[in-house]
Amino acid sequence: MNKAPVPERNTLSMQSLPGFRDFLPDDCARRNYLFARWREVARRYGFVEWEGPPLEATELYKKKSGAEIVEQLFNFTDKGEREVALRPELTPTLARVVAAHEREFKKPLKWFSVGQFFRYEKQQRGRLREHFQLNCDIVGEKDLAADIELVALCIDILRGFGLSSTDVVVRISDRQAWHRFLAGYEIPEERISEFLDIIDKLDRRGANETKKRVEAIGVDWYSVEAMLETSAFPEDFSTGLNHVISGLHARGFEDWIKRDFSLVRGLAYYTGIVFEVFDRAGKFRAIAGGGRYDNLIAQLSDGALSLPALGFAMGDVVLGELINEISRARETMQKSIANDRKLDIYMVIAKEERRADALAQIQQLRDCGYRVDYPLTPTKVARQFQSAEDLGARVALLYGDEWPQVAMKNLASGEQKLISSDDLLSGVEFIVR
Ligand code: HAM
Repeated sequence: MNKAPVPERNTLSMQSLPGFRDFLPDDCARRNYLFARWREVARRYGFVEWEGPPLEATELYKKKSGAEIVEQLFNFTDKGEREVALRPELTPTLARVVAAHEREFKKPLKWFSVGQFFRYEKQQRGRLREHFQLNCDIVGEKDLAADIELVALCIDILRGFGLSSTDVVVRISDRQAWHRFLAGYEIPEERISEFLDIIDKLDRRGANETKKRVEAIGVDWYSVEAMLETSAFPEDFSTGLNHVISGLHARGFEDWIKRDFSLVRGLAYYTGIVFEVFDRAGKFRAIAGGGRYDNLIAQLSDGALSLPALGFAMGDVVLGELINEISRARETMQKSIANDRKLDIYMVIAKEERRADALAQIQQLRDCGYRVDYPLTPTKVARQFQSAEDLGARVALLYGDEWPQVAMKNLASGEQKLISSDDLLSGVEFIVR
């Protein structure tokens, strides 16, 4: 007798790939809350929204993002034999788009964007293989007033989430200060970025290892240490930073910022003021980071266009973790989400003969912009009222024996009255709006 064929085991995993997330409705609500605040505050600062493609030529990142990001690329050869990569960040795309469309816009450009980014990182707390970022960039302004405006925007976004200067700190530095410091050492240009990279990894490697590497480049470790002690840093090395810091003080953001020369930022294209946002407790990875990149547009366009630029990006992962941690911020988020989700009206169909009448009125109410729901199939009245409550409806409309009158119940006060179905819109408006 022939054996029945053994069914092939379905090996497809029901889990998402490592470092990728499924967004269930609650996750989506939290994500959309972040997006809504991001957009609201960026617009308050006069920024306009734009977007680039999620896939770019790999070359775009090889040219200027820096070794670390290139190692983390999700890249492949497409069916047309092109070397392409999912975008790990927005800044190179922005530089490319500005180089292509610059003439169409008055300067300075103040652009923001909300989108998803991909980095093949080791999955750990605060670092995934996809994340969303808000990017805010100013292009075409070399005055430090733009740096002040940008950091102020970053702080105001954090405030928009109910965070305060006791929760987070903006560490701020100036790459130019290190260039001035190194001027005394006659170090070749390419070793300067190597030096900055060493300083960037100080926290990760510790002082001993950093000392060795700094000395290998021919720089005196003890002067570096003195520089890192910000109080000992000679004022004239950082006039730009002093100006930016006093501008932020003038706006009332004194408590939010900390001068910190150990910060240089990992990305290779920064040229001036750089900053990064961290939680005060030091529990999480960076929430946001950015700075000035005055040469990137010229470098990517092979000198065809040169425009000063600066910007920052704030990620959704660490920000979400921090909001969850700080009760004030968490409650603000929960309230906003609950409010956003609330249904205006639930239609209770007490008699199935009235379903057609109820549906005709649902259409009218939805056309007026109300959020309305009802049971798709015959359901006990008590269960319908339960659904109305679960969905946070403000009004229940009951279609039953009283037709052509409808019982209208204010679910907050419990008050109920009969209204003519012809007066439904004004009756509902009185309670809901
Ligand atoms: P970045 O510091 O590489 O800067 O990233 C900005 C923020 O994105 C980080 O502070 C972090 O919150 C978030 N982020 C980055 N990688 C991950 C990850 N693997 N998982 C979760 N969150 C992550 C930039 O991307 C620059 N392009 C910012 C910029 C805009 N500079 C000028 N304009």
